[in-house]
This record gives sequence, structure tokens and C-alpha cells, in this order.
Amino acid sequence: MDVGNLRIHFAIFLSVLECCVGQQALPPGPVSGMLAGNVTFPTNSPQSPAQQFLTITWTFKSSIGPVPVVSSLPTLNNIPAAYEGRVTVNRTTGSLELRQLTLSDSGVYAVNMVTEKGVTLTGETNLDVYAPVSEVTATANTTSPVEFNDTVSVTCSARGSKLFFKWLNGTSEIVSGGRVSLSNGNRTLTISSILRYDSGPLYCNASNVFMTRRSVNVTFDVYFGPDNAVMTTVPQNNLYTTGSNLTLSCSALSNPPAELHWAFNGNLLVQVGSQLKLDSTLESQSGNYSCWAYNSKTQRYKPSGSSQITILQKISGANLTGPSGPMIAGNSSANLTCQAKAGHIDSREWLKNGKTLSPSDTVTISADKSSVSIKPVQVSDSGEYLCKLTNRVSNDNAVYKLIVSYGPGNVKVDGKRAVEVGTRVELKCSAESVPSATFSWAFNDTARNVITPEYIIDHATYKDTGRYTCVASNHVTGLNASFVHTLSVKEEGSLPGELSSGAIAGIVIGVLVAIVIIAVVVKKVMKKRNFHQLEMCAGPRKTNERIESPY
Ligand SMILES: *[C@@H]1O[C@H](CO)[C@@H](O)[C@H](O)[C@H]1NC(C)=O
Ligand SMILES: *[C@@H]1O[C@H](CO)[C@@H](O)[C@H](O)[C@H]1NC(C)=O
Ligand SMILES: *[C@@H]1O[C@H](CO)[C@@H](O)[C@H](O)[C@H]1NC(C)=O
Ligand SMILES: *[C@@H]1O[C@H](CO)[C@@H](O)[C@H](O)[C@H]1NC(C)=O
Ligand SMILES: *[C@@H]1O[C@H](CO)[C@@H](O)[C@H](O)[C@H]1NC(C)=O
Ligand SMILES: *[C@@H]1O[C@H](CO)[C@@H](O)[C@H](O)[C@H]1NC(C)=O
Ligand SMILES: *[C@@H]1O[C@H](CO)[C@@H](O)[C@H](O)[C@H]1NC(C)=O
Ligand SMILES: *[C@@H]1O[C@H](CO)[C@@H](O)[C@H](O)[C@H]1NC(C)=O
Ligand SMILES: *[C@@H]1O[C@H](CO)[C@@H](O)[C@H](O)[C@H]1NC(C)=O
Ligand SMILES: *[C@@H]1O[C@H](CO)[C@@H](O)[C@H](O)[C@H]1NC(C)=O
Ligand SMILES: *[C@@H]1O[C@H](CO)[C@@H](O)[C@H](O)[C@H]1NC(C)=O
Ligand SMILES: *[C@@H]1O[C@H](CO)[C@@H](O)[C@H](O)[C@H]1NC(C)=O
Repeated sequence: MDVGNLRIHFAIFLSVLECCVGQQALPPGPVSGMLAGNVTFPTNSPQSPAQQFLTITWTFKSSIGPVPVVSSLPTLNNIPAAYEGRVTVNRTTGSLELRQLTLSDSGVYAVNMVTEKGVTLTGETNLDVYAPVSEVTATANTTSPVEFNDTVSVTCSARGSKLFFKWLNGTSEIVSGGRVSLSNGNRTLTISSILRYDSGPLYCNASNVFMTRRSVNVTFDVYFGPDNAVMTTVPQNNLYTTGSNLTLSCSALSNPPAELHWAFNGNLLVQVGSQLKLDSTLESQSGNYSCWAYNSKTQRYKPSGSSQITILQKISGANLTGPSGPMIAGNSSANLTCQAKAGHIDSREWLKNGKTLSPSDTVTISADKSSVSIKPVQVSDSGEYLCKLTNRVSNDNAVYKLIVSYGPGNVKVDGKRAVEVGTRVELKCSAESVPSATFSWAFNDTARNVITPEYIIDHATYKDTGRYTCVASNHVTGLNASFVHTLSVKEEGSLPGELSSGAIAGIVIGVLVAIVIIAVVVKKVMKKRNFHQLEMCAGPRKTNERIESPY
């Protein structure tokens, strides 16, 4: 043996050794194929295209023993009936193509290849034939769970071999943790204490190495609520006048939508629904309103906050009544009472002649301010009284004019005390009195038929001398008061300061005559005298132009 032959033999020896230790003819498996599909078992270290294997033998190691698949010689292929038409061997690489796979083709395949140089290569690998993924379904044990209360489990099932499962929430994969857990090889998704946000859609992906199929979407109609029950009032206010139309609205977050009930002062009303209409309201409808949201699925109630609604009638027909009989100063007492025909009165205010009425020794305002008592009335109590009635939605006023009667007082007669005979005499009597006094006159204690304040004598005679008594009467107070005026009639000319009409006429005529006489005299003098004399008379001024100049 030369060294070259030795080397070859050593190589053969080594390869035989390798065969038994490494089975290096095939890459590590397994080889996968789809049911009804084709698969190729690849080999390692293919020969150069020019060199072919002498023999290639593929064997299926079934449970009942080895079954030949193909035995390939350079000139013929030996294929048993079970593999007829289903196998092809590549004589260059030794690889086997197996077609129209059935599930029973799964198992261990062994190869034995002999090279032209007589080297035997062997190997084993696994074939996995996969049934396709189909009929992926996801089934929940409930699709309408109650929030917080219920645990939901959804199970994914599918046909196919070597399946694995994933659960998806939208596009993101669901992993175990918190309320969510995966079990049963990731087939079953369990969500405990389900929340409204868990409604989905969820789906499962069932996969094998060849394919993935998804289930239909699973959604949960999670019953929740009611939450956030809120009541609103239109128009938005707390205070309304009677006759207003109000609409109370209620809403709540709830699935299914909540039944909305209404409560008034804590008692449920018969009305149900999202709106409570109060038309042409009455004061008796004032009170506390609230709504109750009820979810029959979750069997939970939720009250809204309550709203205190006040309905007030406007004050109308304010009426200030006072005494109807006469009021006599210092004697009568007056009761002013302020009422209204309709409307609750919150506050009352009293004004007298536009200013706040203040109580005094004689003026008492009742505690509730509904009446004012004046006892006794005084002159200063006269005036216009106003009472102002107010409530939160309106106000109204009423007035009363209080007239306090008094007098007569301070009776006096104006007129001359002494006159000349023949002259006119006018006496005027006055008195302070409410109502105005009536007057009567007496002369020397004898009543005269004069009932005017004035007593007139056109031409006084001596007989008119005497005492004139004016009696002032107030028919309301029933009081009289008098004043005595003394008149004396004197002879003509006896009263220096007093000129009769005749005398006045005489004086006027006398004065006129005197002026005429003077004028005549002056004219005569001017004719007789020259300018110089006149100038001397007028003084040392030089120019006569100045005297005449203004005209
Ligand atoms: C399997 O191989 C046959 C023959 O080469 C071919 O007609 C068929 O389409 C192949 N099938 C698949 C699923 O590749
Ligand atoms: C055998 O495999 C080799 C390498 O993949 C390829 O080039 C050749 O065409 C194949 N021979 C046949 C007959 O298919
Ligand atoms: C659904 O399955 C889970 C887990 O088995 C269980 O806890 C839950 O009570 C079930 N829910 C219903 C509505 O049956
Ligand atoms: C499933 O839900 C997704 C949203 O996550 C949606 O885009 C998709 O159209 C749904 N598929 C079906 C079949 O309803
Ligand atoms: C289940 O899913 C998780 C995460 O997707 C994964 O790590 C785990 O291997 C899976 N379990 C099975 C049995 O498929
Ligand atoms: C799905 O995602 C939403 C947010 O996108 C989350 O609120 C919900 O809890 C998730 N559901 C599950 C079952 O993980
Ligand atoms: C789930 O399956 C669908 C359809 O087969 C696929 O488009 C999607 O990529 C898969 N998602 C995941 C996370 O595997
Ligand atoms: C209230 O509603 C009634 C009809 O329901 C209507 O006749 C009345 O005018 C309304 N009152 C007001 C103040 O709008
Ligand atoms: C939900 O659970 C609470 C106690 O945890 C229970 O009182 C209530 O009745 C449950 N609701 C429903 C609809 O089962
Ligand atoms: C005020 O009230 C009195 C008695 O209560 C009544 O006689 C009078 O008519 C009323 N006046 C008005 C204006 O209502
Ligand atoms: C005034 O009215 C009050 C209450 O109405 C009554 O008690 C009082 O006697 C009245 N006074 C007079 C003077 O009428
Ligand atoms: C009136 O009385 C006065 C004195 O008081 C007397 O002088 C006079 O004569 C009387 N006149 C008449 C007309 O009686």
C-alpha cells in the first residue's frame, strides 16, 4: 500500500465511523409538510454534479417496522406500490421529494447513500405532516356579563395539528396578568371582574408552523352603571314664579340605558323617563327634586344630586288699609294694615312721605311689620304712607293718605281797627284747621248772617262801631274758636293817616292844578328873561348846548 491508497482507505474508514456516530447525511430536522402537499428531504454534502451516488435508499421507519420508500440505482428506481407516483429522488443530491402527503406519512425517515467511491452515507430525520388550521371558533361562557361581578371565560378551538393559540385585543396580543389569565395551552382566556372597557372586540389566532387562522371577533355587552346620574333644570334656576313651566332632565351612564325615576321630597313619583315636565307650576310643587337611575341588569340604583326648587307666587293686590273715620289729633288712634291678595310676603317696608317710617312713642310698627299703630295721632303724622311688600320673585306697593284733623287754632281777624265814616271795611278771619274751618260772624254778640271768612262793610256808618266776633268751626273736631275785633267809625278827616277816597281825589286834582299853574308861570318868566339870566340861575356852566343836548 502506498501512502495515497492508505489515505483513501483511511478516509473511507473515517466516513464509516462518522456514519455510525453522526448520521451526517441529513441536516437536523424535522421536515414539515402540509397535508396533501409535497415535501423534500434535503441532504448534506451533495456530490459534484458529474458524480452521482451509486445507490440511494430511503426507508420509512413505521411503528410496525421499516418500510422501503425508494431504492435508487443508476438505471432504475425501485418504488413500492404505496409510494408509486409520489416520490422522486435527485440522484445528484440524494434528496427525496414526497408528494400528496397524508397524516400517516409522519414519522422517521432514514437514508443510505453509497458514493461512486464506495463511501456509504446515512442519516435519519423526522417528517411532520400538518393538517391545515381551520374552523377557528371562540366561545364565551357569557357575552353579557355584569361589570365588577362577572368572570368571563372565552375558549378558542380549531382543527389542525400542532396548534398554538394567541389572543388579540385589537392588534395587541393579550398576555396573562392582573384580571386576565390564559390557560389550557393559551386556548382559554379568563377575564375576572370584567370592566366595561373589556368589551372587545377580541379574537384568537390559531396557528401551526404553516399558517394562522383567526376567529371571528368576540364582543361583550358588559352591563354597567348607572353612574354619573345628573339632573338638570330648564330654565336653569332655583326660583320660579307660579305658572312657570319647568323641565327637569336626568341622565346617567348605564348599559343598558337606565330607567329614570323621579323623586319629590324623597317620595317616588309615578312619572318615569328622562324628563319630568312641570307645567303651570303651583307653590305646592316647591321642594326637593331628584332622579334615580336604575339598571335592571346590574340591579344597581344611583340617585342624582337633588335640587331644591322654589316656586313662588308673585305678590299682587297689595292693599294698605287705614282708618275710615276722621282722625283727630291727640285723640284718635290709627291702625294701618298692609296686606296682599296673593303671594307669600317675605318682607315689608314702611315709608312715610318717601322716607323710612321710624317708630316713636306714638308710632308702633308690629313685629311682623304688617301693621302700624299710631296712638294718638298727631298733626305731624299726616302724610302719605306707603307699604312695600317683597318676596323673592316680586314686590308690590300700596299707599294710604292719613289726614289728621285738628283745630281750629290761632284764630285771628285782619282788618282796620278804626275807619272814617263812609269808607269800606274789610275784615278777614283766618284759623289753622284741618279740615278748613267754617266761619260765622257776630256783631256786638249778635249773630250776623255772614259765613265767609271775610266780613265786608261797603260804607261804614257810625252804627258799625262795635265788637266783631269771628267764630271758626271745625266740623270734624267739633271745636270752635273765636276772635274779637273792635272797630270804631270816626268822622271824616279825623284820621290823619287815613284819607277817604274823596280826599284822595281832591288831593290828586289839587296837585294837577298846581302843576299847570307852575308850568304857566315858568313860561311867562322865560319869555321875560334872557339866556344869561337863565344861565346865572343854572350856575356857572358855559354851554347851553349841554342842557339841551340829550334831546
Ligand atoms: C407537488 O408536486 C407536483 C408534481 O411536481 C405538483 O404538480 C404539485 O403542484 C405539487 N403540489 C404542491 C402543493 O406543491
Ligand atoms: C438535483 O439537485 C440539484 C441541486 O439542487 C439540481 O441542480 C438538479 O437540477 C437536480 N436534478 C434533478 C434531476 O432534478
Ligand atoms: C365563566 O367561566 C368562568 C371560569 O370558569 C367562571 O368563573 C364564570 O362563573 C363563568 N361565567 C358564567 C356567566 O358562567
Ligand atoms: C374585528 O374587530 C376589528 C377591530 O379590532 C375590526 O377592525 C374588524 O373589522 C372586525 N372584524 C370583523 C369580522 O368584524
Ligand atoms: C402562551 O402564550 C405565551 C405568551 O404569548 C407564550 O409565552 C407561551 O409559550 C404560550 N404557551 C403555550 C402553551 O403555547
Ligand atoms: C383591550 O384593550 C383596551 C384598551 O385598548 C383595554 O381597556 C382592555 O382592558 C383590553 N381588554 C383586555 C381583555 O385586555
Ligand atoms: C392573526 O391572524 C391574522 C389572520 O390570519 C393575521 O393576519 C395576523 O397577523 C395574526 N396576528 C398575530 C399577532 O399572529
Ligand atoms: C306652559 O305650558 C302651557 C302648555 O302646556 C302653556 O299654555 C303655557 O303658556 C306655558 N307657560 C309659560 C309661562 O310658558
Ligand atoms: C354583584 O355583586 C354584589 C356583591 O359583590 C351583589 O350584591 C350583587 O347582587 C351582584 N349583582 C348581580 C347583578 O349579580
Ligand atoms: C283693601 O282691603 C279692604 C278690606 O280688606 C277692601 O275693602 C278694599 O276694597 C281693598 N282695596 C283694594 C284696592 O283692594
Ligand atoms: C290695630 O290692629 C291690631 C291688629 O289688627 C289690633 O290688635 C288693634 O286693636 C288695632 N288697634 C286699633 C286702634 O284699631
Ligand atoms: C255796640 O257796642 C258798643 C260798645 O261795646 C257800643 O258802643 C255800640 O253802640 C253798640 N252798637 C250797637 C249798634 O248796638
